[in-house]
Amino acid sequence: MLDTGGQYCHLIARKIRELGVSSEVFPSETAPEKLAGARGIIISGGPHSVYDDSSPTMEQAVLTSGKPVLGICYGHHLISHLLGGEVRKGDKGEFGLAILDLAASAGESKLLTGVADREQVWMSHRDVVMSLPPGFGVTATTSTCDTAVIEDPARNVYGVQFHPEVVHSAPGTRILENFVFSICGCTKDWNAGQRVALVEEQIRRTVGNRNVFFFVSGGVDSTVAFTLCLRALGPGRVAGVYVDTGLMRAGETEFVEQTFEKLGHGVVEIAHCEEDFLRPLELAREPELKRHIIGEEFVKVQERIIETRGLLDDNWILGQGTIYPDTIESGGTTKSATIKTHHNRVPAIRALIEAGRIVEPLAEFYKDEVRAIGRQLGLPDALLDRHPFPGPGLAIRCLCSDTDAAVTRIPEGWLVPVRSVGVQGDSRSYAPVLAIDRFPSAAARLQDEATELVNRTAHVNRVIARVASREPLEQQRVFDSVITHGRLELLRRADAIVREMCAVSGFESQVWQFPVVLIPLGCGTERDSIVLRPIQSVDGMTADSVVMPDKLLQDMAERLMGIADLAGVYYDLTHKPPGTIEWE
Ligand code: XMP
Repeated sequence: MLDTGGQYCHLIARKIRELGVSSEVFPSETAPEKLAGARGIIISGGPHSVYDDSSPTMEQAVLTSGKPVLGICYGHHLISHLLGGEVRKGDKGEFGLAILDLAASAGESKLLTGVADREQVWMSHRDVVMSLPPGFGVTATTSTCDTAVIEDPARNVYGVQFHPEVVHSAPGTRILENFVFSICGCTKDWNAGQRVALVEEQIRRTVGNRNVFFFVSGGVDSTVAFTLCLRALGPGRVAGVYVDTGLMRAGETEFVEQTFEKLGHGVVEIAHCEEDFLRPLELAREPELKRHIIGEEFVKVQERIIETRGLLDDNWILGQGTIYPDTIESGGTTKSATIKTHHNRVPAIRALIEAGRIVEPLAEFYKDEVRAIGRQLGLPDALLDRHPFPGPGLAIRCLCSDTDAAVTRIPEGWLVPVRSVGVQGDSRSYAPVLAIDRFPSAAARLQDEATELVNRTAHVNRVIARVASREPLEQQRVFDSVITHGRLELLRRADAIVREMCAVSGFESQVWQFPVVLIPLGCGTERDSIVLRPIQSVDGMTADSVVMPDKLLQDMAERLMGIADLAGVYYDLTHKPPGTIEWE
């Protein structure tokens, strides 16, 4: 895979691995010699235009080496541009579903074997290939794109305008299979589960006669990495610390304790650092300041542990659960990249990394492969199927406020003056929330309306619907508030109810993540409300708001309203973009 900076690159590489074929991601400009071992090359899509000065490019020799090449979207443009075709800069573009029509010449196409005459595909592009490079022919079109699939079988170079890697492209898997098996001649050589023995051997080689130390989080990656090291090296040579920040959900510390107790008594210690985090947080109301404080405290706690345990001496190296996408430098920088720098790159840890004293057994695997390995190691599903949970914990789900103000009526609904984050383009911005007074029923597609409302209503990032409240919306106000033990406890109680009901009903497995958020919105002595935020996603980069079954929502609201201090229950209807998954 040559990465041109698009979010789809890893999705394609993962798809190829799902077909049982090994795939690795390289920057698009990688020299042909470095790709010598590849049987074929796929160039990913990306957000650029080939005519922009700084857009990613590639070595032309890769295209003329005789090795099969498939360009997808931007990769398709790049092939055409570099081999002498013409790409037109589009201003509007085409985003969404289209019908792929095969041309008469498709009968000969190895790439399109088994694809029906008219099938649905998913498009996301501005630019378009206007004239083909010499030697190429068109084998499929859509109503708005005359060059949806182009091929030069003599040179073994192919380009597709749509995205075969997404589920909405019906013949996508077939096309990728045709490319890797019949055009590249690959054989099935990849199975993450079967690599366990090899990984354990690599761990033993890297670690030598030293010991391994982990900061575990209770999440899938660090637990699987820890377990692999434990198996490879045996008990007594692997130790870990779990930092309890006081910002975890109900039962979390006990869950982590039990998980690791099963792996061996005392292998992981719990460091109780609740007050280290809660004390400075009590003074913070501003969302990014809260994040900053947590990052800083984490650094301090980690350095303290490294120092007091003598982990900087030569007998120890650091183990981390870094997975494949985290190891790749890609064109785009994501927020999670900067977040990870906080925890994984503090000075003491950086010193260990720079000295080569680090072992990262999962560095070649994707998340779903890490889960498969975890299953093979016998780790429980309750751990492996966990939803992602953010490092800063409940702090970013417990909103604070430095204003004390009533909601205001606007034509679209009620403006709630809390600060919640959204993404527009690449930037994060904080803005108030729009509340509407309609019950979010699975039958009504209120989410489309929500996107439209965010676009139309200036300075609003998301839309919530009222599910239940003790007093009507017009009587609600936002209260001046900070993080307190009491508010965290309220959030934990509500979150525990939601999690229990989702597990029992099976709804848990229908969503990718389900943040439960406490906002300082209420009336009289009940000064906080709960927002339910279930979403569906592939990788967290984009997400769809999901409406839960009506009966489950009503039962959940009823149980939540049984908590004495809660003023109301709301439902977040906003997709990402324009909202984010978390509220801060
Ligand atoms: P957003 O809110 O940006 O979240 O749409 C995308 C995904 O990232 C998770 N997230 C974090 N994970 N540390 C983490 O380890 C963080 O600071 C952090 N912030 C957000 C979020 O839960 C979602 O899965």
